[in-house]
Amino acid sequence: MTPPLLAPSILAADYSRFGEEALRAERAGGDWLHVDIMDGHFVPNISFGPEVTAALKRSTRLPLDVHLMIVRPDLYLDRFIKAGASRISVHVEASHEVAATLRRIREAGLGAGLALNPKTPMEKVEPFLAQADLVLCMTVEPGFGGQAFLHEVLDKVRAFALHPTRRNNPYRIEVDGGIDAATAGQSAEAGADTFVAGTSLFASHDMTRDLAAMRRCVEEGLRRFEKTEIGV
Ligand code: DX5
Ligand code: ZN
Repeated sequence: MTPPLLAPSILAADYSRFGEEALRAERAGGDWLHVDIMDGHFVPNISFGPEVTAALKRSTRLPLDVHLMIVRPDLYLDRFIKAGASRISVHVEASHEVAATLRRIREAGLGAGLALNPKTPMEKVEPFLAQADLVLCMTVEPGFGGQAFLHEVLDKVRAFALHPTRRNNPYRIEVDGGIDAATAGQSAEAGADTFVAGTSLFASHDMTRDLAAMRRCVEEGLRRFEKTEIGV
């Protein structure tokens, strides 16, 4: 089984104690820390930028999984690379040359992620699949935490999971938005292996327990996926 990875999203943390919150996610057993960057144009909300990302880097040893929801990701790549990102995901709907942006991320030695909104068809992303280390399937409309998971995205998750390109370039499939233990399990059953969770984890009084529960649901889901879709 592909080892599943759980990425608490700092967007849902207490902003007056950012460093401690990053550490809470680390101590609770998170694998990556998901960092949502919003510019108020690509999405109708503003979050934070490279300086805050660099401060998070100083607060935790977790790899930073940076998700750029900005109109011109190409103009800001260098700043997030310098801030200490381990991987950077950019949206296929943003205004940039997607292939060139992915190439630059990989050339800098980082994981390159390609993100797509719930209504964006897989075909938009297909030409770039060989260049991506991760496909980020939004399971809510991007912009805000705390929204309800969109089950209709699961067919796309399954199609990415079973896509022939994945045999030569085994990219991860990340789901982001409305993820709790139940929806993480359902996504795993459709072939997702990487799970972003903001509200469900940071609102928890026992993140260690809730992360462990999520991991169990995910492992069970992935086992079902492998049995039904791959026959192992
Ligand atoms: C939404 C962001 C998500 C967000 C998820 O635009 O991309 O990463 O943090 O938050 P929850 O888990 O609360 O839906
Ligand atoms: Zn995100």
